[in-house]
Formats: sequence, structure tokens, C-alpha cells
Amino acid sequence: MSTITVILRDGSRREIQAAAGVSVMEAVRDAGIDEMLALCGGCCSCATCHVMVESEQAAFSSMTEDENDLLDSSDHRTERSRLSCQLVITQQADEILIRIAPED
Ligand code: FES
Repeated sequence: MSTITVILRDGSRREIQAAAGVSVMEAVRDAGIDEMLALCGGCCSCATCHVMVESEQAAFSSMTEDENDLLDSSDHRTERSRLSCQLVITQQADEILIRIAPED
């Protein structure tokens, strides 16, 4: 299990647990946090699961071209932006801090 600290849009924080093999989007959704629409269900085709990874980026696989293209559609993209459905928790993941991106 890894601990994910989620910064919500109002600035408050929630700590959630995530098992290896699940995506950050799934972990957030399963914890009952409903600020991310995640409309495509994790197929990397909607960009409504946009987050900023505030902790070590190297904990996750690098970005694919599809993810990069989708993030370009957001007005809120930063160098820390990722699509949370593409961030899979690994066995080695330590503490993870993510911020839910503003709604586009
Ligand atoms: S849930 Fe649609 S791109 Fe992540």
C-alpha cells in the first residue's frame, strides 16, 4: 500500500491508501473524492483526471505522446501536470502528493 496525499481544489488535504497496480485516478475515485470527473474511465481520452504531481515525478512511468497531447488541451497545464489515470502505483512508491487541477 502507498499513501497518497490529495490536495483538493479548496486547498484541503485528504490522505488515501492505494494498492500497487491501481492508478491514482482509481484510488482517488475509490476514496469517494468526486472532484475529478474521469469521464473516459481511464482510457486516456478525456483529460478530466488532470492532476499536478507535487512529489517526486520519477515514481511514475514517463508520459506517452497521447497523454501529452491531451494535456495540451488544458488551460491549466504546468510542468507537473499528468493524467492521473496514467499514473500507476508501483510497489516502490513512497509517499505521493498530488493536487487536483482546476476544472477546465
Ligand atoms: S480518465 Fe479520461 S484521460 Fe484519464
